[in-house]
Amino acid sequence: MTGRPFLGKLSAASLRSRFLIAILVWVALGIGGIWYSATSVFTRHIELQYHDELYGHVRELAGLVDVGKDGHIALTRPLSDPRYLEPMSGFYWQVTVDRGQTLRSASMRRGRLDDDVAHSPQVIHMVEGGPTGPAIMYGFTRLVPDGRVIHYVIATDKRYLDSAIAGFTRELTAWLMALAAALIGTGVLVIAFALRPLNRLGVAIAELRSGRREPLPGQFPSEISPLVDDLNIYIVENHAIIERARVAAGNLAHCLRTPLAIIADEAERLSEDPHGAAHGASLLRQCDIMVQQIDYHLARARSAAMAKTSGRTSLLPDIFTPLLSAMRKLHPDKVFDFKHPAGMQVNVAVDPMDLSELVSILLDNAGKWAKLRIAISLAENADKVSIRLADDGPGMTPKQMVDAFAIGTRFDSTKPGSGLGLAIARDIAEVYGIDLALEANPTGGITASLDVRATPH
Ligand SMILES: Nc1ncnc2c1ncn2[C@@H]1O[C@H](COP(=O)(O)OP(=O)(O)OP(=O)(O)O)[C@@H](O)[C@H]1O
Ligand SMILES: [Mg+2]
Repeated sequence: MTGRPFLGKLSAASLRSRFLIAILVWVALGIGGIWYSATSVFTRHIELQYHDELYGHVRELAGLVDVGKDGHIALTRPLSDPRYLEPMSGFYWQVTVDRGQTLRSASMRRGRLDDDVAHSPQVIHMVEGGPTGPAIMYGFTRLVPDGRVIHYVIATDKRYLDSAIAGFTRELTAWLMALAAALIGTGVLVIAFALRPLNRLGVAIAELRSGRREPLPGQFPSEISPLVDDLNIYIVENHAIIERARVAAGNLAHCLRTPLAIIADEAERLSEDPHGAAHGASLLRQCDIMVQQIDYHLARARSAAMAKTSGRTSLLPDIFTPLLSAMRKLHPDKVFDFKHPAGMQVNVAVDPMDLSELVSILLDNAGKWAKLRIAISLAENADKVSIRLADDGPGMTPKQMVDAFAIGTRFDSTKPGSGLGLAIARDIAEVYGIDLALEANPTGGITASLDVRATPH
């Protein structure tokens, strides 16, 4: 793997992974360094200790060896360390007189030590030559009165040194692993603590996007607070731009209305003239389409749904009170029957203006086409509120229920209307992620249903 793709991947990784990688590398280097230096220091230290012990023992040995004038040697008493008496214990000594007698420790039941070791000023680590495997040896020489050389050699099995080092390394490794785990654990806690403001920012932005909160609240660390301030300024400016665009759209529509009314008037007159009837009718049709389009876009521009992040919420069932009273006046011969769970008080993440508009469109349709009754019901399930409006009118065919959402579509010209209601309702529902559906009632008529996300308490 080349370095670049890895760096590319790293720069795309989350801050949490970056910190984690840094901590892992840091802990691995630190703990590895401690492990290496501690084992080296300990090895050196324990070797020196073993060497000192050998020096001491060989000096004691030399002191205990009695050399006669004829070069005969004898031990005045055993060495103080009992391990030199234990058979094959790993602790051995040997005294040799050139071309003469050899004395060996009781522990050395077999083998011999190399006399040459006595000529070296250093402690020698030998892989072979020890009676029971690799050994550490040391020795020196002295002259007997007749001029011959005595070799004093002492040996300890290297396995004692190795097992002391291995025991220390094992214990050290276990401790350092525990330390590494503790450091990584605290590192993870530190990351979580340090990144808490970013998590908070993430939640605030999610709330902002869903329209539940605005602007970004609270105090943030100095590193991110300029970002939050800029974002808040951007949000305010964005609202101002939308507001200006809305006003401009409204103004444009109003400006067009009067000339359009004059054109429609002229077209009507033309259509009454036998010579221009066809032209007049065609002009009138186009005028109707233009009026429809203007009304639709004006309604959309007015809708707060344009600024999805108004941050306002609607309280159910309270929002229905003014709407039902208006509908009862508008359709006095119809019964609006409203049912909701007792004591219900739920906030939904929809601007009250938009939810009122959406519900009014459906209530108005139900009011226009119902024979007598419109049943409105609210139900709370999980994190949603479901609003259902059922009328007992003539209903629509499945195809009509799909087509009804298109701008200007009307199937019954006996009732007043411009065919824009459902198109606007669908737009508002889409902006807020509300499920809007029409379905046929088994007993005739239409049920319009809205599934709206409730805001968390
Ligand atoms: N509850 C209903 N029962 C029967 N037909 C309906 C019902 N709701 C809508 N429709 C049909 O769908 C068409 C489109 O409805 P939509 O609300 O878009 O327009 P409108 O009510 O005719 O006019 P506007 O709502 O713009 O005043 C209606 O003209 C009507 O034919
Ligand atoms: Mg309508």
